[in-house]
Amino acid sequence: MYIVMVATECAPVAKVGGLADVVYGLSRELEVRGNSVEIILPKYDCMWYDQIYGLHEAMNDLWVPWYDSWIHCTVLFGFVHGRKCFFIDAHMDNAYFNRGVFYGHHDDHERFTFFCRASLEFLFKSGKHPEIIHCHDWQTGILPVLLYDIYQHLGMTHPRVCYTLHNLKHQGLAGEFILNGTGLHRAEHYFHPDRLQDSQNPFALNLMKGGIVYSNFVTTVSPRYAWEIRNSDMGYGLGHTLYTHGDKFGGVLNGIDYDVWNPEIDRYIPFNYNIESLDNKFKNKEALRHRLLLRDEYKPIICVVSRLDHQKGVELIKHALFYAINNGCQFVLLGSSPEHGVNDHFLNLKHQLNDNQDCHLEIGYNDELAHLIFAGADMTLIPSLFEPCGLTQMIAMKYGTVPIVRGVGGLSDTVFDANISEKPYSERNGYVFYNFSTNELEAAMISAIGMWYHYPNYFKELMENGMRADYSWNHPGQNYQNIYEFIREK
Ligand code: ADP
Ligand code: GLC
Repeated sequence: MYIVMVATECAPVAKVGGLADVVYGLSRELEVRGNSVEIILPKYDCMWYDQIYGLHEAMNDLWVPWYDSWIHCTVLFGFVHGRKCFFIDAHMDNAYFNRGVFYGHHDDHERFTFFCRASLEFLFKSGKHPEIIHCHDWQTGILPVLLYDIYQHLGMTHPRVCYTLHNLKHQGLAGEFILNGTGLHRAEHYFHPDRLQDSQNPFALNLMKGGIVYSNFVTTVSPRYAWEIRNSDMGYGLGHTLYTHGDKFGGVLNGIDYDVWNPEIDRYIPFNYNIESLDNKFKNKEALRHRLLLRDEYKPIICVVSRLDHQKGVELIKHALFYAINNGCQFVLLGSSPEHGVNDHFLNLKHQLNDNQDCHLEIGYNDELAHLIFAGADMTLIPSLFEPCGLTQMIAMKYGTVPIVRGVGGLSDTVFDANISEKPYSERNGYVFYNFSTNELEAAMISAIGMWYHYPNYFKELMENGMRADYSWNHPGQNYQNIYEFIREK
């Protein structure tokens, strides 16, 4: 099958969070399965260009209709760790993709809507006929609308669209100008509850809703989250739309790429290991302590590697830090937030705890350090308010690092409590609490800490159960292949 992914992130060149890992990992799996996969991305100025091999111009005269004129674009091609990627460069005064950051501008809706239009125009002009176009999150929600209402009429009748929802907190609300920009016009047609009109703000177009309504199949990133967004306030107003389109909607648990996240072959950690050579994991713990200037004591290390977003339970993370260091643990945090206020708050905390040799806060994004932390820590904490899938619990488990999580979304599909679970003991792999409260957080933490100190053999079993589980792209890759085949027949 010929598949084109259209996305605004792809690891490791343009990564903000798990979306980037998914776009890369799923594309790789689909290629391994014999499909031909191409990825279209914006050409951001802030990408990691040293991770792109053989970057060159693929099309230098792509003219994209936009408002009343045409924008000149260049399309570049390069390999990102083996994946075939096209990058759209827009030559315009307000330089949509040369802003020094990926997201966070007042015109993000316009930037990414333009990206969708340019991606389709590129496929059209270059005579490419993918069988599947796979779009991700609100940024590409308008693409199936454009395909259906503009490009099909120009002859692009072939492609079917699969649309994946990674986070319903961000739906992309925009004004009528989006319709004028793209040439969709007909405001009265799109401002309709069955199409793009937002359910809470009748004067806004909801781009994610457009993606849901106009795609041939819609997925989200875990079965539990698929249930939550239809049946609770986690749908942020889209539950009804997802019910209406329920016959083309399902949850597919993400995988992780075991070529990137695998302690046996990880080149960022000093000592490779597997389930048979766990002693080497402890050497990584020493290396981590050495690097972060933590003292060498008989204590477990609890880590957090996360965007410091409200979604991730920032208040509970902070509470856990003090609880950990007051209860015989060391604590390592690697995280950053696009909000200066949140970063400053954690920087102050770092300053306050500067002389404490049992904790280290690293405020920023550091891929390499993330690998060493997962390898060196004993436990990882993920106390999310909501979590569509979550990749760090699966990564941690592969490294024998036991997750302590709040039982929501994908966390509840992947982490099974050591003490209370329907799963057999051989599949229990962590600690789960449910209420978003410091009491429940502490109870889960103290169970884990107690197990580490007093029942090391049981704790080791949890580590091994996590390491043995298969959270690769193998199963989800097959699921997506089935979905593509199903919609291709239609
Ligand atoms: P989300 O996409 O909501 O941020 P996920 O758990 O799906 O959460 O994915 C997060 C990804 O980003 C993981 O690969 C994780 O290792 C990585 N990550 C998060 N914060 C950092 C950071 N500060 N430095 C390096 N990697 C990070
Ligand atoms: C989003 C979600 C996260 C998920 C990731 C990849 O960023 O917040 O839970 O793992 O997308 O699907």
